Amino acid sequence: MILKKITLITACACTLLLTACGVKDSLPQPEPADLIPAPVELTVRSGSVCSHKLETLPQKVIISEKALLNRLNGKTLTDWQLKSAYWMEIGKRKVKIEAADEQGVFYARQSLRMMAALDSAVSCCTILDWPRFQYRGVMLDESRHYQGKEFLLKQLEMMALLKLNRFHFHLVDNPGWRMQIDAYPHLTQLTAWRPVAYFWDWEVNAIGGDFVEEGTPNAYGGYYTKKDIAEILAFAHERHIEVIPEIEMPGHNYETRAAYPELACSLPDGGPSKRELCPGKESTYKFLENVLIEVFDVFPSQYIHIGGDEAGKKSWETCPDCQARMKSEGLKNVEELQSYMIRRMESFAHKHGKRIIGWDEILEGGLAPDATVMSWRGTEGGLKAISQGHDVIFTPSHFCYLDFHQDSTQYRPVGRHLPLEKVYSFDPMVEGISKADAHHVLGIQGNLWTEWVMEPWHAEMMLYPRVFAIAETGWTPAEKKDWPTFERRASILSKVAHDWGYNVFVKPIPHK
Ligand code: ACM
Ligand code: ZN
Repeated sequence: MILKKITLITACACTLLLTACGVKDSLPQPEPADLIPAPVELTVRSGSVCSHKLETLPQKVIISEKALLNRLNGKTLTDWQLKSAYWMEIGKRKVKIEAADEQGVFYARQSLRMMAALDSAVSCCTILDWPRFQYRGVMLDESRHYQGKEFLLKQLEMMALLKLNRFHFHLVDNPGWRMQIDAYPHLTQLTAWRPVAYFWDWEVNAIGGDFVEEGTPNAYGGYYTKKDIAEILAFAHERHIEVIPEIEMPGHNYETRAAYPELACSLPDGGPSKRELCPGKESTYKFLENVLIEVFDVFPSQYIHIGGDEAGKKSWETCPDCQARMKSEGLKNVEELQSYMIRRMESFAHKHGKRIIGWDEILEGGLAPDATVMSWRGTEGGLKAISQGHDVIFTPSHFCYLDFHQDSTQYRPVGRHLPLEKVYSFDPMVEGISKADAHHVLGIQGNLWTEWVMEPWHAEMMLYPRVFAIAETGWTPAEKKDWPTFERRASILSKVAHDWGYNVFVKPIPHK
């Protein structure tokens, strides 16, 4: 996110109290078959089941594509939709589930969990359901502030309940490297630790210097060992969530340069661009490849996110290595030099059976042939990528940046005003995308950058309830989305999530 565009407004301490507690009496009443995300088809039948019995009813599960196709009654789904689709009949004494794949059974069971949690008397009903988009994601920035494994597992559990299926793990950035890399131990022995905890004190107030050695008293930070990551991946896998790691290049690398200064441009003090790797030096590629080999070894995801955003390119204009590289490769400008790096890393990823995702800046200087674009500076980058035949994940900041404040009364309100209704209003099938190109829209993602979000309870307060809106937009057909019923369902789920130990932002009920 662009730091200079953000204004920091003094937080009011009393907003700490803005949790879901104390609003119970004012809660709207649940309806008999409430769900987030709303299902494709729901037919309520007579009778109801007491919610605490719902999950203990005997389940008859059939995994058969033929059975599900019969239930679909001529409706055609893509392969990935079919995998996630389910038919479910909730009766007084039993539940029947039919799906083409385990994944569909999993989502049926999430619907049962959600219905049981939201209502005390669930209607007997039949549900036929499948997702609108294949990519339904949440990104967490673990670099600015590090939350750790237990926090992530807790959020993955909520993501699963909401049928979200991609966790974008922003592992590295200027203020901290967060993944064990055996070939480059300084990344975690040094640049996973800083002298002050709060990012803003470190970054803007420049308190305490850059980084400190692991084990320094009062050092703030941490990193995920490969064992931690294996545990997170297993937990996510059981919940049908793919974890996509992000290793930033060539910008957002202040920490990498602090650990290995030789990766900066060959200029005094590394040149004027302080956070960029030198794309001229062959050794930079060797470093990135060695890091990626270890990342690929741990993360089975089809995708690797290579960042690509906000690289300051000033140093490259005078660095002898960059200039030599531009000459030898016939590159006209520094944008093409960045593009050269991304293309090269894409072909390395391909050799390892991986595909790349990058922020929309990777369009500048020419897109790598098979890259998927994450459109964050509005939707223009996404539209441009689609016009060139590329896949896109929409995460426009005005609608999907969950670090923006929900309400001026909230704790540390920064950035734009992004209330729940605005998040809910975004449609990833952006105007201008033709039917023929619709398959290039992989889906939607909510991003929680953590420049101002240090405490786990604060992170949750920024995520919820807005992640509920991301989930419904990602799953529910556009014509079934409905703000008034969503607002009601979201406020009930907010209360339930609060009771489960999540911190959920709830607007205070005005005094009469
Ligand atoms: C970004 O917010 N820099 C992707
Ligand atoms: Zn250079």
